[in-house]
Amino acid sequence: MAQTGCSNGDNRWSLKGMTALVTGGMNFDLSLPIITLFLYQFCRHAVVEELTGLGARIHTCSRTETGLNEYLRDWEGKGFEVTGSVCDVSSRAQREKLMETVSSKFNGKLNILINNAGTGKPGRTVEFAAEEFSTVMAVNFESVYHLCQLAHPLLKASGAGSIVLMSCVSGVVSLKYLSAYGATKVVSAFTADIFDARDCLLRVEKSSEGMAQTGCSNGDNRWSLKGMTALVTGGTRGIGHAVVEELTGLGARIHTCSRTETELNEYLRDWEGKGFEVTGSVCDVSSRAQREKLMETVSSKFNGKLNILINNAGTGKPGRTVEFTAEEFSSIMAVNFEFVYHLCQLAHPLLKASGAGSIVLMSSVAGVVSLKYLSAYGATKGTSFYHRVYVAGPELLDKMIDIYLDNFASGALNQLAKSLACEWAQDNIRANSIAPWFIKTSLVEPFLSKKSFTEEVIRRTPLGRVGDPKEVSSLVAFLCLPASSYITGQTICVDGGMSINCFDPSQC
Ligand SMILES: NC(=O)c1ccc[n+]([C@@H]2O[C@H](COP(=O)([O-])OP(=O)(O)OC[C@H]3O[C@@H](n4cnc5c(N)ncnc54)[C@H](OP(=O)(O)O)[C@@H]3O)[C@@H](O)[C@H]2O)c1
Repeated sequence: MAQTGCSNGDNRWSLKGMTALVTGGMNFDLSLPIITLFLYQFCRHAVVEELTGLGARIHTCSRTETGLNEYLRDWEGKGFEVTGSVCDVSSRAQREKLMETVSSKFNGKLNILINNAGTGKPGRTVEFAAEEFSTVMAVNFESVYHLCQLAHPLLKASGAGSIVLMSCVSGVVSLKYLSAYGATKVVSAFTADIFDARDCLLRVEKSSEGMAQTGCSNGDNRWSLKGMTALVTGGTRGIGHAVVEELTGLGARIHTCSRTETELNEYLRDWEGKGFEVTGSVCDVSSRAQREKLMETVSSKFNGKLNILINNAGTGKPGRTVEFTAEEFSSIMAVNFEFVYHLCQLAHPLLKASGAGSIVLMSSVAGVVSLKYLSAYGATKGTSFYHRVYVAGPELLDKMIDIYLDNFASGALNQLAKSLACEWAQDNIRANSIAPWFIKTSLVEPFLSKKSFTEEVIRRTPLGRVGDPKEVSSLVAFLCLPASSYITGQTICVDGGMSINCFDPSQC
């Protein structure tokens, strides 16, 4: 295949035909440090250029007319489809006017809302004036909430809506003198829950309807894996198979493995026929000796350099904790965790030698929330960060209850991603983990073949369906692309919203 380092040609890497509103970046408190002002400005600018580079039509806004007009001229000169209005998003009336403009420009339909505008006044909590507090709340949260409300009918009408809220690490960890700012950024995180995900986050499959998309990137290689090498374990079925095809579509050369020689050879022939650069070896990753042989093969094929390691192969035996035998426990630990740890060790010199390495560990939501009868499996995938459960609904905004449940499961894959992210950052190796919920593969087919089981899965999943392997492989690819070069040590759930869904009073 003559790869362009863009996509498999199925439009999943394009925003062509889509419309977006990107707010602000210029709502500055001039008492902020100059670097903060620069970052706000840079951030909005980067988002507008990224989305337009991927094919979207954009409307943006700012309080400063001269600055806005300067950028609009610049974007016009570059051939970007960007329009803009002067709007102070802290004003309710101006927000309403902004959304009317957006609606008329995009014929009542909006695919993407990027709530980017924000202010960040630092200050000691005891000295923070009531007016300062109100300003931070108005700009950082009230405006975001109201803009989401105003945008809802347009997002719904588009058939495929996506909202991104620009939060901050100060909403996750404590940053000194940012107590008010940090609180607004935590609160922002509620917004996704407050809206009914079934209405608001419309289904991905609708997005391709009626669109002739070709958009790919800004041509700066950040959306390409061309010239890169990857090892994907368990690439013959399910998620691993989708990952092989995703990465090769983006330009990477792949080596994969599985235990079943006939099936592996069948796929290798198939990929060769499609022009994909994929090689493979028979390897049971639960065997230490076979892992060592696998990495020798990879090293010799890719001249001692590896950019990407996808630890995907895994097994998932359910069972009551009191009945789980020692052999079953050892087996699941060996396949799901020990092999991953060892493969990372073996791959380290190759990843380092490549100059830019990326590791993705295939975890599970069972490692993020509790899933009954999956205590051993969940522990191998597990996490050590607290899980937040928010109980909120649109009508319960005033009574939001924030229940933090400390879920200190024994950290395995998700924790390993964090440890490697810190330990190997100096070697320019990033490590992240992905936690899927039910994805249609041979692994979970025995569960999903039971109608009542599938119905319960769907009932608990805000997007109202199980996932497709391609919806995981696209995130794997993103985490390997240069476009994600500042993301490391993270666990991202691909779960249709299941892990953040707690209680729906409308079902009572
Ligand atoms: N599907 C889901 O709903 C789901 C949800 C959460 C997490 N996950 C995780 O996602 C990963 C992939 O799952 P999947 O659903 O795609 O599974 P799958 O459909 O069963 O495919 C697994 C792949 O890995 C290979 N494999 C399994 N054990 C292996 C071993 N010991 N050595 C080498 N290759 C091995 C299999 O080939 P052979 O059998 O021929 O070796 C196959 O290619 C797993 O880590 C799983 O825990 C899946």
